[in-house]
Amino acid sequence: MDTTLQKIIQLCKKRGFVYPNSEIYGSMQGFYDYGPLGVRMKQNIKDAWMHWMTQEHDDIVPIDGSIITHPKVWEASGHIQNFTDPLVDCKSCKKRFRADHLVEAFLSKDEKDDSESRIARISHVFKNHTIVCPECKGELTPVRTFNLMVETTLGVIEGEKRKTFLKGEACQTIYLDYENVQRSMRKKIPFGIVQIGKAFRNEITPGNFLFRQREFEQWDLQWFTHPDEMEKWFTYWKEERMKWYKSLVNHKDRLRYRQHEPDELAHYAKIAFDIEYKTPFGWKEWEGIHWRQDWDLSRHSQFSGKDFSFFDEKTKESYIPWIVETSGGVDRTFLFLLLDAYTEEENRVVLKLKPSLAPYKAAILPLVSNNPEIVTLAKSIHRILQSRFVIDIDIKDSIGKRYRRQDEIGTPLCVTIDHQSLIDKTVTIRDRDTMEQKRIAIKNLHKYIAKHSE
Ligand code: GAP
Repeated sequence: MDTTLQKIIQLCKKRGFVYPNSEIYGSMQGFYDYGPLGVRMKQNIKDAWMHWMTQEHDDIVPIDGSIITHPKVWEASGHIQNFTDPLVDCKSCKKRFRADHLVEAFLSKDEKDDSESRIARISHVFKNHTIVCPECKGELTPVRTFNLMVETTLGVIEGEKRKTFLKGEACQTIYLDYENVQRSMRKKIPFGIVQIGKAFRNEITPGNFLFRQREFEQWDLQWFTHPDEMEKWFTYWKEERMKWYKSLVNHKDRLRYRQHEPDELAHYAKIAFDIEYKTPFGWKEWEGIHWRQDWDLSRHSQFSGKDFSFFDEKTKESYIPWIVETSGGVDRTFLFLLLDAYTEEENRVVLKLKPSLAPYKAAILPLVSNNPEIVTLAKSIHRILQSRFVIDIDIKDSIGKRYRRQDEIGTPLCVTIDHQSLIDKTVTIRDRDTMEQKRIAIKNLHKYIAKHSE
């Protein structure tokens, strides 16, 4: 595994961002728990997305749909039939692998591009070359498809339980609720529905920490448009989303678009672009911009009998709206932002996160811990500030060690209370990135932190 990723995994565990799930039982591959700092940071990321979508754009409203839906949803959506990855098993060690990943690893550097799947090439490469198990060099089975949907059962009487599925993609409830939202919110086309929700996939090879999990969160915009305006809105959202991701990162050159080849398009997409980030393990998908057209509303009409046509009062035209989707991963965002922010300097590790996304907005540090007056003042400042901001207070160890601890978790500001604070009611405020310090009045702290935590 890449060393930067390894360091981030260690930092996440040591500093309370992310823990392996069920660790005391040997962990579950592809499942993670967010710790106290991870919860704060993840919530900040989700708030930023929701704010951008619904408050910086017009005509976008949120929903929060259930994880379990009627099983017919997944027939209509095409997931039962088409939501598959190519799989091979090792005949000796019985391990399972994604055939497309083995092909990518097998191809020489020149032949290879950084895309995740080139389905058509897979069988061809397997047919013409001997690819063996990467773990034990054993013989592999022929390539077959494997459905990623996670099944569950519902019902109280044994033998009468009904099979259903956990959401394979979070957005399906948006299509189910489309007409309810459109009518109850009196929306006209074009308009958008957004949702942040859980998705579950029986990934063959979960890995790279939060990058490929079996339970994860997605954020989706489904933008409903007149078919004639599809191209305009597709381009608009593709550009808007890239701008947004650029606004979050320090390394803008690590972002790019990649258009899907026809043979790798998801069953619901006619055109797709990924926004990719250059991770230490290659260019990887961050968000997909999908030209879903009328796939979803037409299929749900067909399977449910419900007519999803929209009647335009002005033009007297009736049509099924087409859909532009922007669909990204919340956990992937969390990981990519850590990769982007992680910086090793001479004497410290610092997470150069955008202040608004950092778990704490500031840390209150009494310069000496054995002076009760200084500690009392520090505690009272902390109490006042924490009603508005998420603020840490750290009393133990040398001031240098405490600065390093805050740098490592990305706290943008450290507020030091010292003897002078008792006399003139001022404190020292230290900037995480420049390490510059200045003195400001305690009464101005509120304003200062608000201004510097955007
Ligand atoms: N509704 C469209 C859809 O689900 P997708 O490209 O399969 O499209 C969208 O997923 C985003 O969800 C991806 O760009 C990625 O950020 C995230 N994602 C997908 N699979 C994931 C996994 N196994 N673990 C973590 N995030 C994942």
